Amino acid sequence: MKKQLARYGAIFMTALLLAACGGGERTVSADASAEIPEEILGELDEETLQELVEEPRYVALTFDDGPRRDTTSVLLDGLLERGVPATFFVIGRQIPGNEDLLKRMKAEGHQIGNHTYDHTRLLTAEPDKVVEEIHKTEVLLTELLGEGDYWLRPPYGAIGKTRAALVKTPMIYWTVDPEDWKTLDAAQVTEHVVSHVEPWGIILLHDFYPTSVQAALDIIDQLQAEGYTFVTVEELFRIRGVEPKAGCLYASPDKLRSLS
Ligand code: NI
Repeated sequence: MKKQLARYGAIFMTALLLAACGGGERTVSADASAEIPEEILGELDEETLQELVEEPRYVALTFDDGPRRDTTSVLLDGLLERGVPATFFVIGRQIPGNEDLLKRMKAEGHQIGNHTYDHTRLLTAEPDKVVEEIHKTEVLLTELLGEGDYWLRPPYGAIGKTRAALVKTPMIYWTVDPEDWKTLDAAQVTEHVVSHVEPWGIILLHDFYPTSVQAALDIIDQLQAEGYTFVTVEELFRIRGVEPKAGCLYASPDKLRSLS
Protein backbone atom coordinates (compact mmCIF):
# COMPACT_ATOMS: atom_id res chain seq x y z
CA MET A 1 0.00 0.00 0.00
CA LYS A 2 2.75 2.36 1.04
CA LYS A 3 4.71 1.56 -2.09
CA GLN A 4 1.65 2.16 -4.23
CA LEU A 5 1.04 5.51 -2.57
CA ALA A 6 4.63 6.51 -3.21
CA ARG A 7 4.19 5.54 -6.84
CA TYR A 8 1.03 7.62 -7.17
CA GLY A 9 2.86 10.42 -5.41
CA ALA A 10 5.60 10.31 -8.04
CA ILE A 11 3.06 10.32 -10.87
CA PHE A 12 1.24 13.20 -9.23
CA MET A 13 4.47 15.19 -8.87
CA THR A 14 5.35 14.57 -12.51
CA ALA A 15 1.91 15.75 -13.57
CA LEU A 16 2.30 18.84 -11.42
CA LEU A 17 5.69 19.57 -12.92
CA LEU A 18 4.36 19.15 -16.45
CA ALA A 19 1.44 21.41 -15.64
CA ALA A 20 3.83 23.88 -14.02
CA CYS A 21 6.02 24.19 -17.12
CA GLY A 22 3.30 23.62 -19.69
CA GLY A 23 1.45 26.39 -21.36
CA GLY A 24 3.88 29.23 -21.71
CA GLU A 25 0.85 30.86 -23.23
CA ARG A 26 1.14 33.96 -25.29
CA THR A 27 -0.99 36.87 -24.23
CA VAL A 28 0.09 39.26 -26.96
CA SER A 29 -0.23 38.88 -30.68
CA ALA A 30 0.47 41.42 -33.35
CA ASP A 31 -0.82 41.47 -36.88
CA ALA A 32 0.22 44.81 -38.31
CA SER A 33 -1.40 44.25 -41.70
CA ALA A 34 -4.84 43.91 -40.08
CA GLU A 35 -4.59 47.50 -38.89
CA ILE A 36 -3.80 49.13 -42.24
CA PRO A 37 -6.90 50.33 -44.12
CA GLU A 38 -7.39 48.71 -47.55
CA GLU A 39 -7.21 51.96 -49.55
CA ILE A 40 -3.86 52.88 -48.01
CA LEU A 41 -2.45 49.38 -48.54
CA GLY A 42 -2.90 49.78 -52.31
CA GLU A 43 -0.94 53.06 -52.37
CA LEU A 44 2.24 51.80 -50.76
CA ASP A 45 5.38 50.73 -52.57
CA GLU A 46 6.66 47.21 -52.01
CA GLU A 47 9.39 48.11 -49.52
CA THR A 48 7.24 50.27 -47.25
CA LEU A 49 4.51 47.67 -47.36
CA GLN A 50 6.95 44.99 -46.31
CA GLU A 51 8.10 47.10 -43.37
CA LEU A 52 4.56 47.79 -42.22
CA VAL A 53 3.20 44.30 -42.64
CA GLU A 54 6.09 42.39 -41.13
CA GLU A 55 6.08 41.75 -37.44
CA PRO A 56 9.13 43.24 -35.80
CA ARG A 57 11.91 40.68 -35.60
CA TYR A 58 13.30 40.40 -32.12
CA VAL A 59 16.22 38.21 -31.16
CA ALA A 60 18.47 37.79 -28.11
CA LEU A 61 22.22 37.32 -28.02
CA THR A 62 23.45 35.34 -25.02
CA PHE A 63 27.02 34.81 -23.83
CA ASP A 64 28.16 32.00 -21.55
CA ASP A 65 31.33 31.19 -19.61
CA GLY A 66 32.53 34.76 -18.93
CA PRO A 67 33.46 37.17 -17.71
CA ARG A 68 36.98 37.18 -19.08
CA ARG A 69 38.82 40.49 -18.89
CA ASP A 70 40.32 40.82 -22.39
CA THR A 71 37.50 39.33 -24.47
CA THR A 72 34.46 40.55 -22.51
CA SER A 73 35.79 44.14 -22.48
CA VAL A 74 36.12 44.17 -26.27
CA LEU A 75 32.61 42.74 -26.61
CA LEU A 76 31.14 45.36 -24.26
CA ASP A 77 32.81 48.12 -26.31
CA GLY A 78 31.32 46.70 -29.52
CA LEU A 79 27.84 46.33 -28.01
CA LEU A 80 27.95 49.89 -26.67
CA GLU A 81 29.01 51.25 -30.04
CA ARG A 82 26.03 49.50 -31.65
CA GLY A 83 23.56 50.26 -28.85
CA VAL A 84 22.80 46.56 -28.48
CA PRO A 85 21.85 44.90 -25.18
CA ALA A 86 22.79 41.25 -24.56
CA THR A 87 22.48 38.64 -21.82
CA PHE A 88 25.51 37.28 -19.97
CA PHE A 89 25.33 33.96 -18.10
CA VAL A 90 28.41 34.26 -15.91
CA ILE A 91 30.46 31.67 -14.05
CA GLY A 92 30.67 32.57 -10.35
CA ARG A 93 34.32 31.73 -9.83
CA GLN A 94 35.26 34.19 -12.59
CA ILE A 95 33.56 37.13 -10.88
CA PRO A 96 36.31 37.98 -8.34
CA GLY A 97 38.72 40.35 -10.10
CA ASN A 98 36.14 41.17 -12.79
CA GLU A 99 33.65 43.05 -10.62
CA ASP A 100 34.00 46.19 -12.75
CA LEU A 101 32.96 44.25 -15.86
CA LEU A 102 29.78 43.03 -14.15
CA LYS A 103 28.96 46.57 -12.99
CA ARG A 104 29.57 47.82 -16.48
CA MET A 105 27.21 45.20 -17.94
CA LYS A 106 24.45 46.31 -15.61
CA ALA A 107 25.08 50.02 -16.19
CA GLU A 108 24.97 49.52 -19.96
CA GLY A 109 21.62 47.74 -19.91
CA HIS A 110 22.65 44.11 -20.28
CA GLN A 111 20.92 41.26 -18.47
CA ILE A 112 23.06 39.17 -16.16
CA GLY A 113 22.32 35.54 -15.44
CA ASN A 114 23.79 32.61 -13.54
CA HIS A 115 25.90 29.85 -15.15
CA THR A 116 26.70 28.17 -11.78
CA TYR A 117 29.81 28.79 -9.69
CA ASP A 118 32.08 26.14 -11.15
CA HIS A 119 30.45 25.29 -14.50
CA THR A 120 29.02 22.14 -12.94
CA ARG A 121 27.10 19.50 -14.86
CA LEU A 122 23.78 19.76 -13.04
CA LEU A 123 22.36 16.66 -14.69
CA THR A 124 24.47 14.39 -12.50
CA ALA A 125 25.43 16.60 -9.55
CA GLU A 126 24.04 15.77 -6.10
CA PRO A 127 20.96 17.90 -5.31
CA ASP A 128 22.84 19.71 -2.49
CA LYS A 129 25.59 20.56 -4.94
CA VAL A 130 23.08 21.89 -7.48
CA VAL A 131 21.62 24.27 -4.91
CA GLU A 132 25.08 25.34 -3.71
CA GLU A 133 26.41 25.96 -7.23
CA ILE A 134 23.51 28.25 -8.07
CA HIS A 135 23.37 29.92 -4.67
CA LYS A 136 27.09 30.84 -4.51
CA THR A 137 26.89 32.76 -7.79
CA GLU A 138 23.60 34.35 -6.79
CA VAL A 139 25.18 35.66 -3.57
CA LEU A 140 28.12 37.15 -5.49
CA LEU A 141 25.79 38.82 -8.00
CA THR A 142 23.49 40.16 -5.30
CA GLU A 143 26.39 41.60 -3.29
CA LEU A 144 27.77 43.27 -6.38
CA LEU A 145 24.65 44.35 -8.29
CA GLY A 146 21.85 44.22 -5.75
CA GLU A 147 18.77 42.05 -5.43
CA GLY A 148 17.61 40.63 -8.72
CA ASP A 149 16.13 37.69 -10.54
CA TYR A 150 19.28 36.06 -11.90
CA TRP A 151 18.01 33.51 -14.42
CA LEU A 152 19.94 30.31 -14.87
CA ARG A 153 21.52 28.76 -17.89
CA PRO A 154 22.52 25.26 -16.84
CA PRO A 155 26.03 24.42 -18.12
CA TYR A 156 25.71 22.32 -21.32
CA GLY A 157 22.00 23.21 -21.23
CA ALA A 158 21.56 20.03 -19.23
CA ILE A 159 19.37 19.50 -16.19
CA GLY A 160 16.85 16.81 -15.25
CA LYS A 161 13.36 17.11 -13.79
CA THR A 162 14.14 16.52 -10.13
CA ARG A 163 17.02 18.98 -10.05
CA ALA A 164 15.07 21.53 -12.08
CA ALA A 165 12.48 21.52 -9.30
CA LEU A 166 15.18 22.99 -7.02
CA VAL A 167 15.73 26.00 -9.29
CA LYS A 168 13.89 29.14 -8.18
CA THR A 169 14.25 31.09 -11.43
CA PRO A 170 13.42 30.44 -15.10
CA MET A 171 16.11 28.56 -17.03
CA ILE A 172 17.20 29.54 -20.52
CA TYR A 173 18.35 27.23 -23.31
CA TRP A 174 18.82 28.47 -26.91
CA THR A 175 17.51 28.09 -30.45
CA VAL A 176 20.79 28.64 -32.33
CA ASP A 177 24.11 27.08 -31.34
CA PRO A 178 26.96 27.62 -33.82
CA GLU A 179 29.38 25.67 -31.55
CA ASP A 180 31.66 28.69 -31.50
CA TRP A 181 33.92 27.10 -28.86
CA LYS A 182 34.66 24.28 -31.27
CA THR A 183 35.04 26.02 -34.61
CA LEU A 184 36.89 29.10 -33.27
CA ASP A 185 36.26 30.73 -36.63
CA ALA A 186 34.42 34.05 -36.65
CA ALA A 187 33.25 33.82 -40.28
CA GLN A 188 31.91 30.29 -39.85
CA VAL A 189 30.11 31.15 -36.61
CA THR A 190 28.56 34.26 -38.17
CA GLU A 191 27.41 32.33 -41.23
CA HIS A 192 25.81 29.61 -39.09
CA VAL A 193 23.91 32.07 -36.91
CA VAL A 194 22.74 34.34 -39.72
CA SER A 195 21.45 31.38 -41.74
CA HIS A 196 19.68 29.64 -38.81
CA VAL A 197 18.23 32.53 -36.81
CA GLU A 198 14.48 33.19 -36.61
CA PRO A 199 12.46 35.89 -34.89
CA TRP A 200 12.10 35.28 -31.12
CA GLY A 201 15.27 33.17 -31.18
CA ILE A 202 18.01 32.97 -28.60
CA ILE A 203 21.59 32.77 -29.90
CA LEU A 204 24.25 30.97 -27.86
CA LEU A 205 27.82 32.31 -27.94
CA HIS A 206 30.73 32.39 -25.48
CA ASP A 207 32.43 35.70 -24.68
CA PHE A 208 35.43 33.65 -23.64
CA TYR A 209 36.86 33.49 -27.19
CA PRO A 210 38.12 36.41 -29.33
CA THR A 211 36.68 34.71 -32.43
CA SER A 212 33.23 34.60 -30.80
CA VAL A 213 33.41 38.29 -29.88
CA GLN A 214 34.25 39.13 -33.48
CA ALA A 215 31.43 36.87 -34.69
CA ALA A 216 28.93 38.49 -32.30
CA LEU A 217 29.65 41.96 -33.69
CA ASP A 218 29.45 40.72 -37.29
CA ILE A 219 26.16 38.94 -36.50
CA ILE A 220 24.72 42.16 -35.08
CA ASP A 221 25.75 44.17 -38.14
CA GLN A 222 24.29 41.63 -40.56
CA LEU A 223 21.05 40.94 -38.69
CA GLN A 224 20.38 44.62 -38.00
CA ALA A 225 20.65 45.19 -41.74
CA GLU A 226 17.99 42.46 -42.16
CA GLY A 227 15.67 44.31 -39.79
CA TYR A 228 16.35 42.43 -36.57
CA THR A 229 16.27 44.18 -33.21
CA PHE A 230 18.42 42.83 -30.38
CA VAL A 231 16.98 42.69 -26.88
CA THR A 232 17.84 40.94 -23.63
CA VAL A 233 16.26 37.56 -22.91
CA GLU A 234 14.02 39.14 -20.29
CA GLU A 235 12.80 41.71 -22.82
CA LEU A 236 12.27 39.02 -25.44
CA PHE A 237 9.82 37.23 -23.12
CA ARG A 238 8.15 40.48 -22.08
CA ILE A 239 7.63 41.68 -25.66
CA ARG A 240 6.33 38.25 -26.66
CA GLY A 241 3.91 38.37 -23.74
CA VAL A 242 5.22 35.21 -22.08
CA GLU A 243 5.81 35.01 -18.35
CA PRO A 244 8.57 32.40 -17.87
CA LYS A 245 8.18 30.13 -14.88
CA ALA A 246 10.73 29.09 -12.29
CA GLY A 247 12.22 25.64 -12.80
CA CYS A 248 11.23 25.48 -16.48
CA LEU A 249 13.77 25.39 -19.33
CA TYR A 250 12.97 27.62 -22.30
CA ALA A 251 14.64 27.48 -25.71
CA SER A 252 12.69 30.65 -26.56
CA PRO A 253 9.47 32.33 -25.38
CA ASP A 254 7.64 29.95 -27.74
CA LYS A 255 9.60 26.74 -27.07
CA LEU A 256 9.81 24.83 -23.84
CA ARG A 257 12.46 22.09 -23.52
CA SER A 258 11.23 18.89 -22.00
CA LEU A 259 13.41 17.71 -19.15
CA SER A 260 14.75 14.19 -18.94
NI1 NI B 1 29.10 26.98 -20.33
